[in-house]
Amino acid sequence: MQRTWQEPEAAGLHVGVIMDGNGRWATARGLPRAAGHREGADAVRRLVESAPATGIGTLTLFAFSSDNWRRPGREVQWLLRLFREHLRTETARCVVTGVRLNVIGRRDRMPRSLAAAVGAAESATAAGRRLHLRIAIDYSARDAILRAAQCLPPDAVPSRDSFARLLSIVDHAPPAPPVDLLIRTGGEQRLSDFLLWECAYAELHFTPRMWPDFDHADLARALADFHGRERRFGALPGTAPDLQPIAGRI
Ligand code: FPP
Repeated sequence: MQRTWQEPEAAGLHVGVIMDGNGRWATARGLPRAAGHREGADAVRRLVESAPATGIGTLTLFAFSSDNWRRPGREVQWLLRLFREHLRTETARCVVTGVRLNVIGRRDRMPRSLAAAVGAAESATAAGRRLHLRIAIDYSARDAILRAAQCLPPDAVPSRDSFARLLSIVDHAPPAPPVDLLIRTGGEQRLSDFLLWECAYAELHFTPRMWPDFDHADLARALADFHGRERRFGALPGTAPDLQPIAGRI
């Protein structure tokens, strides 16, 4: 717990994405599931390119959940190799376009070559300020919350902010703001253990679009949907969301 991070400078929305539907996209075309994941990587590249111009400052993508280890070994190997290659090929582009890349989740179970690619990508892109891109690999929100709780001294009374900072340390990443908008593709409507703490007041957008088909128009629709919502954070319509000072006086 000695590590401290500089606050990221990227302002803007925090958007989280559960990228679902690669397998169904491939099966519908008579292709192996791996082909869907490869197309999914192209969709990631497109989204990262278009995100900064749409007001997104932080983008967290769910690439591999800790429960995905239950998939057949071949698919898992394929995915981990794809992540490694993607990091290796995209790092230079991230540097040029001002994207800071971090991987959140456990590092101790990933292959050494992937861990090395993660470290290299994170170091090379550390100065990026246009977009904070976080890719979740071997990630479980419940496990992250448990690990953060286990770091607390017995008599600690953490605040929401200090616990959120602890979570970011457990996630091996600089602090990120709470999620504003969570998008899930593929038609399912569940959170699947993704950013449970950070999504406390996230607006949820579910789309039947399969992830490899997700494009700029889909992102624009999701953002328009988000901007049409009234976010009240538990307060009454039209009132300021920050109740902290009032809560302290009661
Ligand atoms: C869920 O679709 C998707 C995954 C488990 C993998 C996500 C990976 C990518 C989008 C590939 C590229 C990512 C990066 C960061 C380079 P699924 O396979 O469960 O689809 P299904 O529900 O149709 O079977």
